[in-house]
Amino acid sequence: MSNVKFYSGENIPLEMHKVRIVQKLNLVPIERRLEAVNEAGNNMFLLKNRDVFMDMLTDSGVNAMSDRQLASMMEADDSYAGSDTFTKLENKIQEIFGKSFFLPAHQGRACENILAQSFVKPESIAIMNYHFTTTKSHIVLNGGSVEEILTEEGLRVNGECPFKGNMDIANLRAFIEKNGAENISFVRFEAGTNLIGGQPFSLKNLQEARKVCDEFSVILVLDASLLADNLYFIKTREEQCKNMSIREITRAISDNADIIYFSARKLGCARGGAICTSNEKLFDRMRVLLPLYEGFLTYGGMSVREMEAMTVGLDETMDEEMINQGPQFIAYMTQELQKKGVPVVTPPGGLGCHLNAMEFVSHIPQHEYPAGALAVALYIVSGVRGMERGTMSEERDKNGIEPLANMELLRLAMPRRVFTLSQVKYAIDRIVWLYENRNLIGGLKFVEEPKILRFFLGKMGTVSNWQNDLVKKFRQDFGDSL
Ligand SMILES: Cc1ncc(COP(=O)(O)O)c(C=O)c1O
Repeated sequence: MSNVKFYSGENIPLEMHKVRIVQKLNLVPIERRLEAVNEAGNNMFLLKNRDVFMDMLTDSGVNAMSDRQLASMMEADDSYAGSDTFTKLENKIQEIFGKSFFLPAHQGRACENILAQSFVKPESIAIMNYHFTTTKSHIVLNGGSVEEILTEEGLRVNGECPFKGNMDIANLRAFIEKNGAENISFVRFEAGTNLIGGQPFSLKNLQEARKVCDEFSVILVLDASLLADNLYFIKTREEQCKNMSIREITRAISDNADIIYFSARKLGCARGGAICTSNEKLFDRMRVLLPLYEGFLTYGGMSVREMEAMTVGLDETMDEEMINQGPQFIAYMTQELQKKGVPVVTPPGGLGCHLNAMEFVSHIPQHEYPAGALAVALYIVSGVRGMERGTMSEERDKNGIEPLANMELLRLAMPRRVFTLSQVKYAIDRIVWLYENRNLIGGLKFVEEPKILRFFLGKMGTVSNWQNDLVKKFRQDFGDSL
């Protein structure tokens, strides 16, 4: 949204785009939603999209594309090796990030595979502001471990801190000193920390971490998948960056990272992934793995059409009016829920609006997956599909012990430029109703639990007959409404 004030004084996010292609949605009756969620083993990933009204599972690969992106896909130059499409993308990455070398990959976790295989040794430690599910799995699969060095504010669900994704610099230095730089695979900064409410880091914090990495000759890796939101927050919340353009902030961030990688399903509103660096030695270590896992160096598992869309999408991400739409819709939703007393993560971050399940359903113990249960309940009462980001998204350790997550969040992603304000208002309405009826929600238990990334494919049962009670109450209050 540009600086547009409403005469009414209301704070409403205004879309700076118009919708020219639409997809029809279905809102099936609550009885069908109950059936559908049980068919899906109470796992939001296993629902069929035809049973979903608002898909707030993720922003990954489901952001709206622009007319320019779609048009660019028609001009793709298809060839296994040396296509012009690749060169265009390489040039765009050099222009935006100032990095000389670029490796394409089919998505973000493919980049993580290459990084983990190149830099993680058995017993080595990857330091992060916060982990992401696939990142951690790749590191652990390669024999390493993850250490999160977040500032104290980062783990507080509520607060005023504008940069809850910051690293604790004193602890970072102390940790490297204690464990020895030779045992650190890399320091990884995640833009817009996915698992703790889409919270950003500041440029200043990154610059300070860079100095520590230089002191100890440790590599600094940036996961830029959620960079668009982080850029917006740096621009609007960080004093030293107020007068910088989005391009200048991007370059300032990039100058502090040895390696940047990202999921283009998120950054650039396309599909695919990318790794870039200006360090030839690091590049060479990663490059040899590319033909083995991703395909040849000039497509890396992506279709040329996607690469064209990514080139344009990255360019459009440098436009403040494009990247502010997500965070402003999220802020609107968060603030409206707060007004009704619904527990949410504050300050509002990027990626989505995050409900604090630990408080929303405080009667459900963590080993009965409060955020997962809340996701199921919200789907039943609204057809809105969110994603559990809590204990269910964690993995058992070597001894089979289940770590309890620091936060139990239900993430309601806001894919960029996809939903209208009335749809967001619908979601708010049903969440408020559910909050008032929260005592009807019960816990979940695993009936099928995969060993790796269990939240994707695991199946759950309910610990009691609570879902039927919820449907009954919905019918009492909403009559024959969908
Ligand atoms: C911060 C972050 N890193 C990495 C990934 C993995 O990317 P992809 O889904 O393209 O494999 C994601 C995906 O959600 C992410 O949010």
